[in-house]
Order: sequence, then structure tokens, then C-alpha cells
Amino acid sequence: MKRKVTKAVFPVAGLGTRFLPATKSIPKEIMTLVDQPLIQYAIDEARDAGIEEFIFVTSRGKSALEDYFDAAPQLEETLQRKGKTKLLDALKRTDMQSGAIAYVRQREALGLGHAVWCARRLIGDEPFAVVLPDDVIAGEKPCLQQMAEAYEETGGCMVASMEVPQHMISSYGVLDVKEDHGSIVSVKGMVEKPDADKAPSNLAVIGRYILTPSVLDNLNKMKTGAGGEIQLTDAIADQIDTEEGVYGFRFRGQRFDCGSKSGYLQATVAFGLAREELSEEFSMFLREYLGMQNAAQ
Ligand code: UTP
Repeated sequence: MKRKVTKAVFPVAGLGTRFLPATKSIPKEIMTLVDQPLIQYAIDEARDAGIEEFIFVTSRGKSALEDYFDAAPQLEETLQRKGKTKLLDALKRTDMQSGAIAYVRQREALGLGHAVWCARRLIGDEPFAVVLPDDVIAGEKPCLQQMAEAYEETGGCMVASMEVPQHMISSYGVLDVKEDHGSIVSVKGMVEKPDADKAPSNLAVIGRYILTPSVLDNLNKMKTGAGGEIQLTDAIADQIDTEEGVYGFRFRGQRFDCGSKSGYLQATVAFGLAREELSEEFSMFLREYLGMQNAAQ
């Protein structure tokens, strides 16, 4: 089995109900962190990991996403004329070459597993990455690149994972660890959204995966899992007892859950402060603002 991963699936067909009413007309993935939509961070990370084909699983009301990756000749021409080269460069990063990007529709939001299954014909018979754009990960080396390098050693299925506090564990897929080798752990079980007192560990799965095509065969069986959805976790867990196995990967970096309001706000602060052109003014504002809040209490 080849160990170079060149295809990535971006499931973006969810309803995004936690951000209603905004997501009534704006796809969650188009919401911006500073000046880039969430999806741009995901695409940049995938490019850095060597991904060449980008497969989007979309749904009704997501046309803003397709437009975002299209060429913008009029805008480019205007920026060119005005000599705005920096903005032109930023714009170029959004332009996907013809043929590099493909869209499939998920007709009904039946779960993440079902969304990935919808892309099966485009994935074919090779390992592939799955990137959830609402998990934004800041780090020196992009998370998916770290995983792609680790995957070259291990093969099998690999899921990004991180320790989370016990009171939050029931929001995640959770790993039952067989052997802990530090950044890589081998897995003997996986359970989606367990009760906190029944979770096999505090190692949670987050939105980066490298999967083998066998997972698609498992998804073909289409069992409904936790929450009445077709869970990707279940299809990955079916690979545990096979020769290829399943591995958790403790990435280096900070993950922001931009699918939740609090995580999105935290990411906005962190990414805003990380911008050279904004950090001074923004950090001064934050200090003064928090000072005023504390004084008022
Ligand atoms: P979430 O669990 O965050 O669901 O999905 P959601 O619908 O996006 O948001 P809420 O919970 O209603 O606020 C995680 C990822 O899986 C995709 C979502 O688009 C998101 O990237 N997804 C989920 C699908 O593509 N299809 C589905 O049926 C479910």
C-alpha cells in the first residue's frame, strides 16, 4: 500500500447550527479568522502536507465556498492596476487550479462518516486525509504534515488526538490506548461521545485523519451510530483488529474548536495577536479592556 497521501477530503456539509442565525446564509467554513476564512487555513495546511487533490463534500447553501476558490478576474485586474501586489498575492492563494478541486454533494446531513462515504469514488483505492476545517491548529509544523510523516512509518489509519479534561470528553471520539509511544499511540478501541465516567482515556480524536481505503468499505455497511449519525469513528474502529491497525497521533500545536462560539472567539484573539501588523494595537486594547472589566467588578 502506498504511503504518500495526495488526496484530502474536506467535509463541509454540516448544518452549523451552533452558529445560527449567521449560518442560515453563510457556510461556517467561510467565517473569518482575522482576514481569512476557516477553509483557507485548512487548505494551506493540506498543501503543506503534500496534498494535491482537494475534495469537498458540500450541501445546499454552500455556493459561497465554491465561489471562494474560483478565479476572480475583475478583482485581480483592479488590484493589478492599482499596484496592490500584497493583496494580489493573498488572492492568488485562494485560486485553485482547474482539476485540483472537486465537489460532491451530501444530500442529507447524515453524519461525518456518511459525508466521507459520499466522496468514495473520487478517493478511489488509495490512502487519503480528512480535514475538518472547523478545527484550526496553530503550530510550527502544520498538524497534517506531522501526521503524513508519521504515517509513512506506521501505515494503517491515523487520527489526530489530544488530551482533554474529563468534563469535556463526552463531546469527542475517545481512544482506548494499547501502547503509548509518546507522539504515536496504538489503539485497541475507539468510542464516540462516551459518558465521562465510561471514557477509556482522556485522549480525544480531533479533526485530522489519514485513512486507508478499507475505511470506505466499512462505511459501505452504513451502520448508524451515536446520535443517530453515521460515525466515521465506528468505521475507523473496524480497522483496529486488522493487520494495518489504528494509531492516534499527539500533534504538536494548539487546536481551536472553531465549530463552537467560545473556541472561535479564542482563535480570533490568538490569530489576531499573532499578526505582526495587529499585535501591538490589539494586545493594548485587550489589556485595557480586561483592566476595565476587572476594575468594574
Ligand atoms: P459538526 O459536528 O461540527 O456539525 O461537524 P455541524 O453541522 O458542522 O455543526 P453544528 O454541530 O450543527 O453546529 C463536523 C464536521 O463534519 C461535517 C461538518 O461540515 C464539519 O466540518 N459534517 C457533519 C458533514 O459534512 N456532514 C454531516 O452530515 C455532518
